[in-house]
Amino acid sequence: MILNDEQKAMLDGKYGEGAAYAMKIQVGIGECFDAPRMVPIKRAHVALSNQAGDLWFAEKLVKAGAKCRVAPTVNPGFCLGHFTGECAHPVDGPSAEHMQRTDNAYRTLGAVLSYNCTPYIATNVPNFGEVCAFSESSATPYVNAVWGARSNRESANSALCAAITGCVPEYGLLLDENRKGDILVHVEANMKSDYEYHLLGMMGDKIGEGIPVFTGLPKVITPEALRNLGAQLNTSGAYGMYHIVGFTPEAPTKEVALGGKAPKREVVITDKDLKEFEEKFSDEAHDGKVDFAMFGCPHFTLEEAMYIAKHIEGKQLAIPMYILVSSHARQMADRMGITDILTAAGAEIIPDTCPDQPCWHYLKGKVGITESPKCAYYPRRRGINFMIRDLDTCIEAALTGEVK
Ligand code: F3S
Repeated sequence: MILNDEQKAMLDGKYGEGAAYAMKIQVGIGECFDAPRMVPIKRAHVALSNQAGDLWFAEKLVKAGAKCRVAPTVNPGFCLGHFTGECAHPVDGPSAEHMQRTDNAYRTLGAVLSYNCTPYIATNVPNFGEVCAFSESSATPYVNAVWGARSNRESANSALCAAITGCVPEYGLLLDENRKGDILVHVEANMKSDYEYHLLGMMGDKIGEGIPVFTGLPKVITPEALRNLGAQLNTSGAYGMYHIVGFTPEAPTKEVALGGKAPKREVVITDKDLKEFEEKFSDEAHDGKVDFAMFGCPHFTLEEAMYIAKHIEGKQLAIPMYILVSSHARQMADRMGITDILTAAGAEIIPDTCPDQPCWHYLKGKVGITESPKCAYYPRRRGINFMIRDLDTCIEAALTGEVK
Protein backbone atom coordinates (compact mmCIF):
# COMPACT_ATOMS: atom_id res chain seq x y z
CA MET A 1 0.00 0.00 0.00
CA ILE A 2 1.40 3.40 -0.95
CA LEU A 3 1.28 5.97 1.86
CA ASN A 4 2.09 9.66 1.43
CA ASP A 5 4.75 11.29 3.62
CA GLU A 6 2.33 12.40 6.30
CA GLN A 7 0.64 8.99 6.49
CA LYS A 8 4.07 7.32 6.73
CA ALA A 9 5.05 9.71 9.51
CA MET A 10 1.83 8.89 11.33
CA LEU A 11 2.50 5.16 11.03
CA ASP A 12 6.03 5.74 12.32
CA GLY A 13 4.74 7.46 15.44
CA LYS A 14 5.63 11.07 14.60
CA TYR A 15 2.07 12.14 15.53
CA GLY A 16 2.01 10.05 18.71
CA GLU A 17 1.41 6.49 19.75
CA GLY A 18 -2.40 6.67 19.44
CA ALA A 19 -2.37 7.92 15.86
CA ALA A 20 0.25 5.30 14.95
CA TYR A 21 -1.91 2.55 16.43
CA ALA A 22 -4.99 3.76 14.50
CA MET A 23 -2.99 4.01 11.26
CA LYS A 24 -1.52 0.52 11.76
CA ILE A 25 -5.05 -0.93 12.02
CA GLN A 26 -6.18 0.92 8.92
CA VAL A 27 -3.16 -0.15 6.88
CA GLY A 28 -3.91 -3.74 7.97
CA ILE A 29 -7.52 -3.40 6.77
CA GLY A 30 -6.36 -1.80 3.52
CA GLU A 31 -3.90 -4.63 2.85
CA CYS A 32 -6.62 -7.23 3.45
CA PHE A 33 -8.68 -5.61 0.69
CA ASP A 34 -5.76 -4.76 -1.65
CA ALA A 35 -6.38 -1.03 -1.26
CA PRO A 36 -3.70 0.84 -3.22
CA ARG A 37 -3.70 3.99 -1.01
CA MET A 38 -5.35 6.03 1.72
CA VAL A 39 -7.84 8.79 0.87
CA PRO A 40 -8.87 11.69 3.12
CA ILE A 41 -12.25 11.97 4.87
CA LYS A 42 -14.06 14.98 6.26
CA ARG A 43 -16.67 13.16 8.34
CA ALA A 44 -17.15 9.97 10.33
CA HIS A 45 -19.71 8.31 12.55
CA VAL A 46 -18.74 5.87 15.29
CA ALA A 47 -21.30 3.26 16.31
CA LEU A 48 -20.08 3.11 19.89
CA SER A 49 -22.08 0.50 21.69
CA ASN A 50 -21.15 1.35 25.30
CA GLN A 51 -20.16 -2.26 25.79
CA ALA A 52 -17.01 -3.74 27.25
CA GLY A 53 -15.04 -4.27 24.01
CA ASP A 54 -15.89 -0.81 22.73
CA LEU A 55 -14.81 0.86 25.96
CA TRP A 56 -11.58 -1.19 26.06
CA PHE A 57 -10.67 0.03 22.56
CA ALA A 58 -11.57 3.66 23.18
CA GLU A 59 -9.68 3.80 26.49
CA LYS A 60 -6.64 2.12 24.89
CA LEU A 61 -6.57 4.94 22.32
CA VAL A 62 -7.04 7.56 25.05
CA LYS A 63 -4.08 6.13 27.02
CA ALA A 64 -2.00 6.24 23.83
CA GLY A 65 -2.82 9.96 23.51
CA ALA A 66 -5.01 9.70 20.38
CA LYS A 67 -7.11 12.69 19.27
CA CYS A 68 -9.61 12.80 16.41
CA ARG A 69 -8.55 14.87 13.40
CA VAL A 70 -12.12 14.58 12.14
CA ALA A 71 -14.60 14.86 15.04
CA PRO A 72 -17.02 11.93 14.56
CA THR A 73 -20.62 11.86 15.71
CA VAL A 74 -21.36 8.87 17.98
CA ASN A 75 -24.13 6.35 18.57
CA PRO A 76 -26.37 6.24 21.63
CA GLY A 77 -25.57 4.48 24.86
CA PHE A 78 -28.04 5.56 27.53
CA CYS A 79 -28.86 8.97 28.92
CA LEU A 80 -27.13 9.22 32.29
CA GLY A 81 -29.18 12.23 33.34
CA HIS A 82 -32.42 10.36 32.73
CA PHE A 83 -31.53 6.90 34.04
CA THR A 84 -29.78 8.08 37.19
CA GLY A 85 -32.08 11.00 37.87
CA GLU A 86 -35.75 11.39 36.95
CA CYS A 87 -36.25 7.68 36.09
CA ALA A 88 -38.45 5.59 38.42
CA HIS A 89 -36.11 2.59 37.86
CA PRO A 90 -32.55 3.94 38.03
CA VAL A 91 -29.73 1.99 36.44
CA ASP A 92 -27.29 0.18 38.77
CA GLY A 93 -24.01 1.81 39.83
CA PRO A 94 -21.60 -0.28 37.69
CA SER A 95 -23.68 0.35 34.52
CA ALA A 96 -23.79 4.08 35.24
CA GLU A 97 -20.03 4.07 35.82
CA HIS A 98 -19.49 2.23 32.53
CA MET A 99 -21.54 4.79 30.60
CA GLN A 100 -19.66 7.61 32.33
CA ARG A 101 -16.32 6.06 31.32
CA THR A 102 -17.56 5.77 27.71
CA ASP A 103 -18.55 9.42 27.81
CA ASN A 104 -15.17 10.43 29.28
CA ALA A 105 -13.22 8.40 26.70
CA TYR A 106 -15.01 9.83 23.66
CA ARG A 107 -14.87 13.36 25.08
CA THR A 108 -11.09 13.01 25.50
CA LEU A 109 -10.76 11.64 21.97
CA GLY A 110 -12.54 14.72 20.67
CA ALA A 111 -15.77 13.15 19.38
CA VAL A 112 -19.03 15.06 18.91
CA LEU A 113 -21.06 13.63 21.82
CA SER A 114 -24.26 13.39 19.78
CA TYR A 115 -25.36 9.93 21.08
CA ASN A 116 -27.67 9.49 18.13
CA CYS A 117 -27.80 6.72 15.51
CA THR A 118 -29.44 8.76 12.71
CA PRO A 119 -26.83 11.53 12.20
CA TYR A 120 -27.34 11.33 8.41
CA ILE A 121 -30.77 12.96 8.77
CA ALA A 122 -29.69 16.19 10.45
CA THR A 123 -26.29 16.51 12.14
CA ASN A 124 -23.68 14.75 9.99
CA VAL A 125 -24.86 14.84 6.39
CA PRO A 126 -22.35 14.20 3.60
CA ASN A 127 -22.48 15.60 0.09
CA PHE A 128 -22.81 13.52 -3.05
CA GLY A 129 -19.54 11.72 -3.82
CA GLU A 130 -17.94 12.61 -0.48
CA VAL A 131 -15.71 9.94 1.05
CA CYS A 132 -16.49 9.28 4.70
CA ALA A 133 -16.26 6.59 7.38
CA PHE A 134 -19.67 5.64 8.75
CA SER A 135 -20.43 2.70 10.99
CA GLU A 136 -23.96 1.85 12.22
CA SER A 137 -26.57 -0.32 10.50
CA SER A 138 -28.83 2.37 9.09
CA ALA A 139 -26.11 5.00 8.65
CA THR A 140 -23.84 3.32 6.08
CA PRO A 141 -26.57 2.43 3.56
CA TYR A 142 -28.20 5.84 4.05
CA VAL A 143 -25.06 7.84 3.23
CA ASN A 144 -24.22 5.58 0.28
CA ALA A 145 -27.63 4.96 -1.23
CA VAL A 146 -29.57 8.13 -0.37
CA TRP A 147 -26.86 10.81 -0.31
CA GLY A 148 -24.56 9.20 -2.87
CA ALA A 149 -21.60 9.62 -0.49
CA ARG A 150 -18.97 6.85 -0.24
CA SER A 151 -18.39 4.81 2.88
CA ASN A 152 -17.55 1.20 3.50
CA ARG A 153 -19.43 -0.66 6.21
CA GLU A 154 -17.04 0.44 8.93
CA SER A 155 -17.02 -1.08 12.37
CA ALA A 156 -17.15 1.25 15.38
CA ASN A 157 -13.43 0.63 15.80
CA SER A 158 -12.35 1.21 12.20
CA ALA A 159 -14.53 4.36 11.99
CA LEU A 160 -12.83 5.67 15.14
CA CYS A 161 -9.40 4.92 13.62
CA ALA A 162 -10.47 6.84 10.49
CA ALA A 163 -11.57 9.79 12.64
CA ILE A 164 -8.14 9.77 14.32
CA THR A 165 -6.05 9.47 11.14
CA GLY A 166 -8.38 11.52 8.92
CA CYS A 167 -8.25 8.96 6.13
CA VAL A 168 -9.52 5.55 4.99
CA PRO A 169 -8.11 2.81 2.77
CA GLU A 170 -9.55 3.09 -0.73
CA TYR A 171 -11.45 -0.10 -1.54
CA GLY A 172 -14.99 -1.54 -1.72
CA LEU A 173 -17.81 0.99 -1.89
CA LEU A 174 -15.38 3.86 -2.39
CA LEU A 175 -14.87 2.67 -5.97
CA ASP A 176 -17.37 3.12 -8.83
CA GLU A 177 -17.22 -0.49 -9.96
CA ASN A 178 -18.28 -1.85 -6.54
CA ARG A 179 -21.35 0.35 -6.18
CA LYS A 180 -23.46 -1.21 -8.91
CA GLY A 181 -26.45 -3.34 -8.00
CA ASP A 182 -26.57 -7.06 -8.77
CA ILE A 183 -29.90 -8.25 -7.32
CA LEU A 184 -33.15 -7.01 -8.80
CA VAL A 185 -35.85 -6.82 -6.13
CA HIS A 186 -39.38 -6.34 -7.48
CA VAL A 187 -41.50 -4.96 -4.64
CA GLU A 188 -45.13 -5.93 -5.20
CA ALA A 189 -46.11 -5.33 -1.56
CA ASN A 190 -48.26 -2.32 -0.73
CA MET A 191 -45.76 0.09 0.83
CA LYS A 192 -48.42 2.19 2.51
CA SER A 193 -46.42 3.57 5.47
CA ASP A 194 -42.87 3.82 6.83
CA TYR A 195 -43.52 0.55 8.67
CA GLU A 196 -43.51 -1.57 5.50
CA TYR A 197 -39.92 -0.43 4.86
CA HIS A 198 -38.94 -1.98 8.20
CA LEU A 199 -40.44 -5.26 6.99
CA LEU A 200 -38.91 -4.98 3.52
CA GLY A 201 -35.49 -4.51 5.13
CA MET A 202 -35.99 -7.74 7.06
CA MET A 203 -36.18 -9.71 3.79
CA GLY A 204 -32.38 -10.22 3.79
CA ASP A 205 -32.74 -14.02 3.70
CA LYS A 206 -34.79 -13.81 0.54
CA ILE A 207 -32.76 -11.01 -1.11
CA GLY A 208 -29.42 -12.70 -0.43
CA GLU A 209 -25.88 -11.36 -0.59
CA GLY A 210 -25.14 -8.44 -2.92
CA ILE A 211 -26.39 -4.92 -3.70
CA PRO A 212 -30.19 -4.81 -4.12
CA VAL A 213 -31.86 -2.70 -6.78
CA PHE A 214 -35.46 -2.09 -5.69
CA THR A 215 -38.20 -1.51 -8.24
CA GLY A 216 -41.91 -0.95 -7.67
CA LEU A 217 -41.53 1.40 -4.69
CA PRO A 218 -43.64 4.59 -4.46
CA LYS A 219 -42.36 7.79 -6.07
CA VAL A 220 -42.20 9.61 -2.74
CA ILE A 221 -40.37 7.91 0.13
CA THR A 222 -39.83 9.61 3.49
CA PRO A 223 -36.45 9.92 5.25
CA GLU A 224 -37.92 7.79 8.04
CA ALA A 225 -38.83 4.99 5.59
CA LEU A 226 -35.29 5.04 4.14
CA ARG A 227 -33.85 4.99 7.65
CA ASN A 228 -36.02 1.95 8.44
CA LEU A 229 -35.03 0.14 5.25
CA GLY A 230 -31.29 0.51 5.90
CA ALA A 231 -31.52 -0.38 9.59
CA GLN A 232 -33.37 -3.62 8.92
CA LEU A 233 -31.29 -4.61 5.86
CA ASN A 234 -28.38 -4.70 8.29
CA THR A 235 -30.35 -6.58 10.92
CA SER A 236 -31.39 -9.32 8.49
CA GLY A 237 -28.15 -9.21 6.46
CA ALA A 238 -25.14 -7.03 5.58
CA TYR A 239 -25.80 -4.27 3.05
CA GLY A 240 -23.68 -1.15 2.70
CA MET A 241 -25.49 0.00 -0.42
CA TYR A 242 -28.76 -0.37 -2.30
CA HIS A 243 -30.50 1.41 -5.14
CA ILE A 244 -34.12 2.47 -5.67
CA VAL A 245 -34.79 2.89 -9.37
CA GLY A 246 -35.87 6.43 -10.20
CA PHE A 247 -35.23 7.64 -6.65
CA THR A 248 -31.67 7.22 -5.32
CA PRO A 249 -29.02 9.32 -7.07
CA GLU A 250 -27.02 6.49 -8.62
CA ALA A 251 -30.12 4.75 -9.99
CA PRO A 252 -31.83 7.05 -12.53
CA THR A 253 -32.73 3.86 -14.44
CA LYS A 254 -32.60 0.14 -13.76
CA GLU A 255 -29.83 -0.25 -16.34
CA VAL A 256 -27.62 2.39 -14.70
CA ALA A 257 -28.23 0.93 -11.24
CA LEU A 258 -27.16 -2.50 -12.51
CA GLY A 259 -24.13 -1.09 -14.36
CA GLY A 260 -25.51 -2.34 -17.69
CA LYS A 261 -25.26 -5.97 -16.59
CA ALA A 262 -27.92 -8.60 -16.02
CA PRO A 263 -28.75 -9.13 -12.34
CA LYS A 264 -27.37 -12.31 -10.77
CA ARG A 265 -30.75 -12.87 -9.11
CA GLU A 266 -34.32 -11.56 -9.26
CA VAL A 267 -36.56 -11.57 -6.21
CA VAL A 268 -40.22 -10.67 -5.73
CA ILE A 269 -41.46 -9.35 -2.37
CA THR A 270 -45.20 -9.49 -1.73
CA ASP A 271 -47.62 -8.49 1.03
CA LYS A 272 -47.66 -12.17 2.04
CA ASP A 273 -43.88 -12.10 2.65
CA LEU A 274 -44.19 -9.06 4.89
CA LYS A 275 -47.18 -10.41 6.81
CA GLU A 276 -45.56 -13.80 7.35
CA PHE A 277 -42.43 -12.12 8.67
CA GLU A 278 -44.44 -9.94 11.07
CA GLU A 279 -46.18 -12.98 12.49
CA LYS A 280 -43.11 -15.16 12.71
CA PHE A 281 -40.92 -12.47 14.28
CA SER A 282 -43.38 -11.24 16.93
CA ASP A 283 -43.28 -12.62 20.45
CA GLU A 284 -46.60 -13.63 21.98
CA ALA A 285 -48.49 -11.03 23.98
CA HIS A 286 -50.10 -12.27 27.21
CA ASP A 287 -53.74 -12.81 26.22
CA GLY A 288 -53.55 -9.96 23.74
CA LYS A 289 -52.01 -7.60 26.31
CA VAL A 290 -48.62 -5.88 26.16
CA ASP A 291 -46.68 -4.25 29.01
CA PHE A 292 -45.10 -1.25 27.29
CA ALA A 293 -44.48 0.41 23.92
CA MET A 294 -41.08 1.45 22.62
CA PHE A 295 -40.21 3.49 19.52
CA GLY A 296 -37.01 4.94 18.15
CA CYS A 297 -34.77 2.12 16.99
CA PRO A 298 -33.29 3.81 14.96
CA HIS A 299 -34.00 7.09 16.76
CA PHE A 300 -37.34 8.68 15.94
CA THR A 301 -37.39 12.08 14.25
CA LEU A 302 -39.08 15.12 15.73
CA GLU A 303 -41.87 14.64 13.18
CA GLU A 304 -42.56 11.12 14.46
CA ALA A 305 -42.67 12.37 18.06
CA MET A 306 -45.12 15.06 16.91
CA TYR A 307 -47.25 12.41 15.17
CA ILE A 308 -47.52 10.41 18.39
CA ALA A 309 -48.25 13.56 20.41
CA LYS A 310 -51.11 14.41 18.04
CA HIS A 311 -52.64 10.96 18.58
CA ILE A 312 -52.38 10.84 22.36
CA GLU A 313 -52.95 14.49 23.28
CA GLY A 314 -55.50 14.81 26.07
CA LYS A 315 -55.66 11.03 26.58
CA GLN A 316 -54.06 8.72 29.13
CA LEU A 317 -51.88 5.76 28.14
CA ALA A 318 -52.70 2.40 29.69
CA ILE A 319 -49.06 1.26 29.60
CA PRO A 320 -45.67 3.04 29.59
CA MET A 321 -44.47 4.39 26.25
CA TYR A 322 -40.81 5.19 25.54
CA ILE A 323 -39.88 7.35 22.53
CA LEU A 324 -36.13 7.37 21.84
CA VAL A 325 -34.79 10.41 19.98
CA SER A 326 -31.69 12.53 19.43
CA SER A 327 -30.96 15.26 21.97
CA HIS A 328 -31.71 17.77 19.18
CA ALA A 329 -35.21 16.31 18.63
CA ARG A 330 -35.77 16.27 22.41
CA GLN A 331 -34.77 19.93 22.69
CA MET A 332 -37.12 20.91 19.87
CA ALA A 333 -39.90 18.84 21.48
CA ASP A 334 -39.29 20.70 24.77
CA ARG A 335 -39.38 24.10 23.09
CA MET A 336 -42.50 23.28 21.08
CA GLY A 337 -44.52 21.90 24.00
CA ILE A 338 -44.49 18.37 22.49
CA THR A 339 -42.70 16.95 25.54
CA ASP A 340 -45.44 18.38 27.79
CA ILE A 341 -48.18 16.74 25.70
CA LEU A 342 -46.40 13.37 25.70
CA THR A 343 -45.60 13.52 29.41
CA ALA A 344 -49.17 14.47 30.34
CA ALA A 345 -50.40 11.35 28.51
CA GLY A 346 -47.83 9.18 30.31
CA ALA A 347 -45.19 8.83 27.57
CA GLU A 348 -41.47 9.47 28.02
CA ILE A 349 -39.35 11.06 25.28
CA ILE A 350 -35.76 10.10 26.03
CA PRO A 351 -32.60 11.35 24.28
CA ASP A 352 -29.24 9.59 23.72
CA THR A 353 -30.57 6.09 24.45
CA CYS A 354 -30.69 2.73 22.65
CA PRO A 355 -32.97 -0.24 23.50
CA ASP A 356 -29.96 -2.56 23.74
CA GLN A 357 -28.62 -1.09 26.98
CA PRO A 358 -28.62 -2.13 30.65
CA CYS A 359 -30.81 0.86 31.58
CA TRP A 360 -33.87 -1.20 30.57
CA HIS A 361 -33.21 -3.82 33.29
CA TYR A 362 -36.70 -3.31 34.71
CA LEU A 363 -38.36 -4.52 31.47
CA LYS A 364 -36.86 -8.01 31.77
CA GLY A 365 -39.58 -10.66 31.39
CA LYS A 366 -42.06 -8.18 29.93
CA VAL A 367 -43.54 -8.03 26.42
CA GLY A 368 -43.48 -4.71 24.60
CA ILE A 369 -44.85 -3.52 21.30
CA THR A 370 -42.79 -1.68 18.69
CA GLU A 371 -42.85 -0.90 14.97
CA SER A 372 -39.16 -1.80 14.58
CA PRO A 373 -37.92 -5.39 14.13
CA LYS A 374 -34.45 -4.21 15.15
CA CYS A 375 -35.91 -2.95 18.43
CA ALA A 376 -37.38 -6.42 18.94
CA TYR A 377 -34.24 -8.26 17.89
CA TYR A 378 -31.44 -6.97 20.13
CA PRO A 379 -33.15 -6.65 23.55
CA ARG A 380 -34.21 -10.33 23.39
CA ARG A 381 -30.76 -11.20 24.70
CA ARG A 382 -31.65 -9.14 27.77
CA GLY A 383 -34.88 -11.13 28.30
CA ILE A 384 -37.15 -8.38 26.90
CA ASN A 385 -39.64 -9.52 24.26
CA PHE A 386 -41.58 -7.63 21.63
CA MET A 387 -44.50 -7.88 19.30
CA ILE A 388 -44.11 -5.87 16.07
CA ARG A 389 -46.95 -3.94 14.46
CA ASP A 390 -47.40 -0.74 12.44
CA LEU A 391 -47.10 2.53 14.36
CA ASP A 392 -50.84 3.27 14.53
CA THR A 393 -51.56 -0.18 15.97
CA CYS A 394 -48.74 0.33 18.50
CA ILE A 395 -50.15 3.72 19.59
CA GLU A 396 -53.62 2.20 19.96
CA ALA A 397 -52.14 -0.67 22.01
CA ALA A 398 -50.41 1.86 24.29
CA LEU A 399 -53.75 3.62 24.85
CA THR A 400 -55.68 0.44 25.63
CA GLY A 401 -52.98 -2.02 26.76
CA GLU A 402 -54.29 -4.49 24.21
CA VAL A 403 -53.25 -5.40 20.68
CA LYS A 404 -56.17 -5.38 18.31
FE1 F3S B 1 -29.98 2.90 17.13
FE2 F3S B 1 -29.57 1.26 19.14
FE3 F3S B 1 -31.47 0.77 17.47
S1 F3S B 1 -28.03 2.26 17.96
S2 F3S B 1 -30.70 1.52 15.54
S3 F3S B 1 -31.36 2.59 18.79
S4 F3S B 1 -30.12 -0.77 18.37
